[in-house]
Amino acid sequence: MMYTKTEEQVVLMKEAAMLVSKTLTEVATVLKPGMTTLDIDQLCMEFAKDHKGTLSFYNYHGYPHHICASVNDVVVHGFPNKTPLKDGDIVSIDFGVILNGWHGDHAYTFILGEADAAAIELVKITKESLYKGIEKAIANNRIGDIGYAIQEHTEKKHGYGVVRELVGHGLGKHLHEDPQVPNYGKRGTGLKLKENLVLAIEPMINMGTHKVFTDDDGWTVKTQDGKPSVHFEHDVCVKKNEAFILSDFSIIEAAEKANINLNTSYY
Ligand code: MF3
Ligand code: CO
Repeated sequence: MMYTKTEEQVVLMKEAAMLVSKTLTEVATVLKPGMTTLDIDQLCMEFAKDHKGTLSFYNYHGYPHHICASVNDVVVHGFPNKTPLKDGDIVSIDFGVILNGWHGDHAYTFILGEADAAAIELVKITKESLYKGIEKAIANNRIGDIGYAIQEHTEKKHGYGVVRELVGHGLGKHLHEDPQVPNYGKRGTGLKLKENLVLAIEPMINMGTHKVFTDDDGWTVKTQDGKPSVHFEHDVCVKKNEAFILSDFSIIEAAEKANINLNTSYY
């Protein structure tokens, strides 16, 4: 089902999205080599609970953790584990909460220490592509305009692979609402966007082939060629002239820049 929100509901959804942003800011503050993704899971779970959030990923269709931690060739839905993170790792943390009945769901990719220039470039371009997509999230545009903008910036311009199997989505009382928001598409096609529709826009961009496969665990999505993949996600409200971004990368970025263990050389 697709639901547009009232102004009051958008305000509540902003609070939910911001709780996720604040949680990812905590991650940005402490992340360093040697830490495990299970440590990050614990941190996110405790921070959200301390701030009256309910964990939304745990048990969602049987998902067994509170975050998705997708490292290097893992595209999305990686299980947190006990492997210590190391210099050069590209770590996407995707987290969701319910606050006052409304979902926040967004993701950020961090680079630990020294990394390949090509990997740093992939992170930069994927983040840029998210904002190119968000620019199109305005009333009377079409869903295809968002995907087209993301695909142009990543696949056409930089030769990266846009994951086809997984897409962004509507967000509200439910984690996944209509419409689906592909990261590829044709301009002027698909559903017409209405004011106060809230979307989770989430490009998943591979350095090499767009092809992916799902691990035996039934969740972990990996690139077929073993090359890295990057994932950023924002919660966005469609407006008449300019999309209203509910989540906030600026607080995450400030913490990221202050953390000497993280690579922010592309800023
Ligand atoms: N952001 C993810 C998505 O929209 C949420 C993870 S799904 C879960 O698909 F199962 F882990 F909750
Ligand atoms: Co999502």
